[in-house]
Amino acid sequence: MNLPTSIEITEVGPRDGLQNQSSVIPTDTKIAYVDALSKTGLQRIEVSSFVNPKWVPQLADADAVFSGIVRFENVKYTALVPNKRGLDRAMDVGVDEIGLMTSASESFSSHNVNATIADSIERMKPLVESAIASGVGVRGYVSCIVACPYEGEIDAGQVRNIVEQLLDIGVEDISLGETIGVVVPTDIARIYDALDGVLSPEQSVLHLHDTRGTALACVLFAMQLGVRRFDASSGGLGGCPYAPGAAGNLATEDLVYFAERMGIDTGVDLEQLVSATRIIEASVGSSLCGRTYSASSCQDPSS
Ligand code: HMG
Ligand code: MG
Repeated sequence: MNLPTSIEITEVGPRDGLQNQSSVIPTDTKIAYVDALSKTGLQRIEVSSFVNPKWVPQLADADAVFSGIVRFENVKYTALVPNKRGLDRAMDVGVDEIGLMTSASESFSSHNVNATIADSIERMKPLVESAIASGVGVRGYVSCIVACPYEGEIDAGQVRNIVEQLLDIGVEDISLGETIGVVVPTDIARIYDALDGVLSPEQSVLHLHDTRGTALACVLFAMQLGVRRFDASSGGLGGCPYAPGAAGNLATEDLVYFAERMGIDTGVDLEQLVSATRIIEASVGSSLCGRTYSASSCQDPSS
């Protein structure tokens, strides 16, 4: 089946998962959640966002969360950064890597970062330079690779165009975001075809939301193309405040189960992961929808 022997997962639950939660989640709970995730074997955890707190109030405590967590040596702790103010805050607490945001859709860009695509990329340039000069990693997110909540279908040529611009400014680690969860495997084929010669499947990261339960089918197809880095959110927590109706990311437990059952190493201990998810589920006020997570909860008589 041409499958990889291992994949790398970035856990985005503490950021993408929590950013859309309306209930106030105490800082201590977020810290306990990240600390529990650190014990699972995950190598990268997106801990929070240093965005304008008026835009994403839930993550206004990013600085306190970063300062409160226990750092594991083999884990990279990352965060979203939208501008210089965000970079300064991120540097103050010693993030390992920053995530910068742009989009393949003009409307989403303006709703999400209050800027055109061109301005959002222009804004990144000095951030990329400062981060690299300080030894901090840089990731670029391209949202709406398949469709936009405001514009509908997005042309894959536009995704290629944005990826080229990110590579030009020195962003080499690129996460392709299917923001609203409409993706099917033929979309994945179309996108990687369009990216041919610019960004290889091996180089890219795939960030899928799972609104319609199609993410794992796309993961399998993407793995066969050579993709081996994926973003996922524990329990399937999440959504984007600027993508109405979008559900959470592909659930990390589903990805871990799916991969490990096929003999693909994730490095993640599923039981520990379920325990970490329980910590945050207790605070979000509703049951989390990840299938493997739900199945684990049903099998555990104590839960
Ligand atoms: P703005 O309001 O246009 O910024 O926001 P501004 O420069 O005009 O500043 C307004 C005020 O906010 C100023 O304060 C700034 O200091 C303050 P004042 O002078 O009025 O008192 N401010 C900040 N304070 C703290 N930290 C900051 C910061 N920045 C400004 N970083 C901005 C522009 C880009 C900042 C805003 O639009 C923003 O924060 N957007 C982020 C939205 C967001 O987080 N969206 C969700 C994440 S993206 C996503 O989920 C997609 C992804 O998962 C991939 C996928 O699924 O596709 C990544
Ligand atoms: Mg997302």
